[in-house]
Amino acid sequence: MTDGYQQGFATQDQELSGVSLQVNGLLPSWLQGTLVRNGPAKFEVGEHGLRHWFDGLAMLHSFTIEAGCVQYVNKFIDSPSYRYAQEHGRLGYSEFATDPCRSIFKRVATLFRPKFGINTSVSVSKLADQFVAWTEMPHPIEFDPQSLRTIGVVDFADDLKLHTATPHPHLEPTTGDTINVSLRFGATSAYVVYKMPANSSRRQLVASMPVREPAYMHSFALTDAYVVLAEYPLVVNPRRLLLSGKPFAENLQWQPERGTQFLVIRKADGALVGRYRCPAFFCFHHVNAFEHGDELIVDLIAYPDANVIQALYLDVLREPRADGVVHPPNELRRYHVPLSGGAVWHETLADEWLELPRVNYERCHMRPYRFVYGTGLSKQRRDDFSNQLVKIDVEQRTATAWYEPGCYPGEPVFVPAPHAVEEDEGVVLSVVLDARHNTSFLLVLDGRTFSEVARAAAPHRIPFGFHGEFFAG
Ligand code: CO
Repeated sequence: MTDGYQQGFATQDQELSGVSLQVNGLLPSWLQGTLVRNGPAKFEVGEHGLRHWFDGLAMLHSFTIEAGCVQYVNKFIDSPSYRYAQEHGRLGYSEFATDPCRSIFKRVATLFRPKFGINTSVSVSKLADQFVAWTEMPHPIEFDPQSLRTIGVVDFADDLKLHTATPHPHLEPTTGDTINVSLRFGATSAYVVYKMPANSSRRQLVASMPVREPAYMHSFALTDAYVVLAEYPLVVNPRRLLLSGKPFAENLQWQPERGTQFLVIRKADGALVGRYRCPAFFCFHHVNAFEHGDELIVDLIAYPDANVIQALYLDVLREPRADGVVHPPNELRRYHVPLSGGAVWHETLADEWLELPRVNYERCHMRPYRFVYGTGLSKQRRDDFSNQLVKIDVEQRTATAWYEPGCYPGEPVFVPAPHAVEEDEGVVLSVVLDARHNTSFLLVLDGRTFSEVARAAAPHRIPFGFHGEFFAG
């Protein structure tokens, strides 16, 4: 382990609660609430290392901001995967890229009935009145937002049989419904879109589309009238998945000749309006989408292929390639999808590497918008893990960055100021790994100038997380 960004992939098993943090700078008085972040924090089980960044066991971290002070809590999620690992000292469930039956023990039963773990390490959201953590499994795990104590796997009051769900469900602003996309594997596999009303625990089917070899999709887009799936040519053969005895990631096949297709589904009746094909690309994160006349505008972070998944194996991240490149290249692209026919085309919105993108969601989701915030890669230090925060103006096609040597910021969460007039009026919150001091801090940037407002020193090093939310309180 070196003293650089690799510290972000090292286990942190200290759990703390109610720690008051020292704040440098002045937090805005209106900023009241809790930033909850999710990510992997344990990378070994017993003697065995997990293989992929996505496999690490989930830990929640919270920063509660009140009257200019910050309190910190962190806790492992007591998921079935975590519980089994704690009790048996070995992995009991197949994670994204690590499989117990190959790496630890062979058991015929698991070969034929793969048990995918519920290790909800990816994101958090409010689902009806529950605070939940998600991974790519259909059931999230509920937690207490104050103590971060695990309440349990969420049971839905319906009989939808689903095998995955994205960790990026959307909120329908007019109704408050949660909308998400799942895969169902079987004799006939399907993409399933469901919605869940705000006051209910019953998921309702919006659309089900049969597919022979489903694509791996980490997120999707909504517009006023449509649900938009970008179907990359990174596909899984359901029968092989069941029989291969290999973890999910190793069953994914890149078939660029298929191209990427936008599947446009009408919310009102679940009908497939059309499939719109373009040359192959891969993406984890949609940024935003909206309708513009007869065209859908779909903004996302595109990779030329799916090699980024290979690049996120822990052995690769810890021992970078000889040429020093850690991050495969990507682009913030705007796809134009003409609903009445014609070719799909795209333009590049920024000359910046970008990931973990966020917008002013309350105001701009499904609407024309101007600003994207994300983690970035400094032009001075391309041979590094993502080492800066960027704010991109998609109208002016300009970028502003926050960079500090030896620092590795996580996903920037935008929090709008009350009664804001401008889209970027508010603050941006990011948990930053400070590799110089083997610790982390909460960084607060002014949304408009992207300059530092305050920082609060965390009591220990926080491994790199994926996603978080600010819950105003
Ligand atoms: Co994500």
